[in-house]
Amino acid sequence: MSTDLAIGVHDLSLRTTSLVLPHAELARYNGSDVAKYHKGLGQRAMSVPTEDEDIVTMAAAAALPLIERHGPDDVTTVVLATESSVDQSKAAGVYVHSLLGLASNTRVVEVKQACYGATAGLQFAAGLVHRDPRQRVLVIASDVSQYDLDSPGEATQGAAAAAMLVTADPALLELTGPSGLFTADVMDFWRPNYRATPLVNGKESVAAYLDAVEGAWRDYRSQGGLPLTDFRGFCYHQPYTRMAFKAHRQLLETAGAHLDEEALHRDVAPTTSYNETVGNSYTASVYLALTALLENRDDLDGRTVGLFSYGSGSVAEFLAARVRPGYRAHLRQEAHRRAVEDRQVIDYATYRSLRERSLPTDGGWHELPHRTQGPFRLTAVRDHQRIYEAA
Ligand code: COA
Repeated sequence: MSTDLAIGVHDLSLRTTSLVLPHAELARYNGSDVAKYHKGLGQRAMSVPTEDEDIVTMAAAAALPLIERHGPDDVTTVVLATESSVDQSKAAGVYVHSLLGLASNTRVVEVKQACYGATAGLQFAAGLVHRDPRQRVLVIASDVSQYDLDSPGEATQGAAAAAMLVTADPALLELTGPSGLFTADVMDFWRPNYRATPLVNGKESVAAYLDAVEGAWRDYRSQGGLPLTDFRGFCYHQPYTRMAFKAHRQLLETAGAHLDEEALHRDVAPTTSYNETVGNSYTASVYLALTALLENRDDLDGRTVGLFSYGSGSVAEFLAARVRPGYRAHLRQEAHRRAVEDRQVIDYATYRSLRERSLPTDGGWHELPHRTQGPFRLTAVRDHQRIYEAA
C-alpha cells in the first residue's frame, strides 16, 4: 500500500463442517489405489456438511470468535466471498450479519470469482480501512466444494470457512504492495446457474493455474515487487495440496531460481496441514494455507510471506504480506485443531446419501434434523426461505 499506515489481517479464524470422509473410504468404494489420493493429490480426507450446515453456518461459526474477542464495534463492512452461494440475489453475509448480531449501520456484500473472491475482498477491505483507519472490515471466505459423483474431481471436494478481521495496525499480517495480477478468459471450471455442481476440465485447470502463477509473478516483479529470496514462505490456493508444490516449482522456474527439492519442501510443506484433511474449500483454501503457515512456523516475526490466489475462469493475484512481530500470541491453533479433530468420521454410504439429497424446492415448511456440532444451524426451509438460528 502506498501509505505508512500498516493495514492487514488483525485476526484469523477457521471453521469446517461436522463430518469427514477419509480418502481411504472413497478408494475402498471406487477401487482406486489410495496412494493416488494420499501421494498423487496429497489429500487424506474431505469435510462433508451435515443436513443443517452450509456456507452461512460455517461463515458465521468462523467469524464468531473474532466478534467475541474484539467486539462488534466499528465493523462497518462484511464481505463474504463464495462460489457455492445459496441465493442468486441476497448476499449470504446478510444472514451472517444477523446471526452475529452486528449493527444495522453495516454494509454487507457478496463477492464472486471462483476461488479467488476472498482475495479481492481482502483488497477491498484494505482500501476501506485506508480511507478511514477506524473502520474494521470482516472478510469471510466460505465454500462447500462438490463435484459430480464418480468424477475425477470428487476426490478434491471439501468445505471450510476462513474469517479475517482487516484493520489498521494489525496483529498478524500487514499487506504490502504491489500486487501481481493475471486474468485470462479460460473455461477450466465454471458452474452455470442451473447446475449444482461445476463443469471442469481438470487437466486444463492445472495448466491454467500454472500459467497464472507465471503471469502474476512476472507482473509482481515488473512493478518493483520483492525478489524471491526475501520470502520466508509461500501460501498457494490448494484445490489439492500437491498443486501447491507444482505451483511453487512453476514460480521458482519463472523467477530463474535453482529447483532445489529441499527448498521446495521447506517453503510449501508447512502450509498444507489443514487443506490435506479438509479438502478444497475454494475461496478459503489459500487462507487455510496461510493459517497453517503461521501456526506451524515460529520464526516469521517481521518476515515476508507470499500469497498466491487463483480462481478458475480465471483471475489470479500474487501478493506479499509482512508477518507482524509477536503474531504467535494472537493465533487460534487450539480451536482450529478441535474444529478439525472433532469431526465425525463417516463411511462412503453415509456420504453418498448426504450428497444425493437436496433441499426441497416446493415452498413448503421443511424442518431439518439437528446434526451440526457448530454454533449455528440451518433449521428449516419455509416459503422458499432459509431459516438460520443459533444451535
Ligand atoms: N500412486 C501415487 N501417485 C499416483 C497414483 C498412485 N497409485 N496414481 C496416480 N498418481 C498421481 C498421478 O501421477 C498424478 O500426478 P501428477 O499430477 O504429478 O501428474 C496425480 O496422482 C493425479 O492423477 P491423475 O491421473 O492426473 O488424476 P485424475 O485424472 O483423477 O485428475 C485432477 C486429477 C486434479 C485433474 C482432478 O481431480 C480434477 O479434475 N480436480 C478438480 C479440478 C482441480 O482441482 N483443478 C486444479 C486447479 S484449480
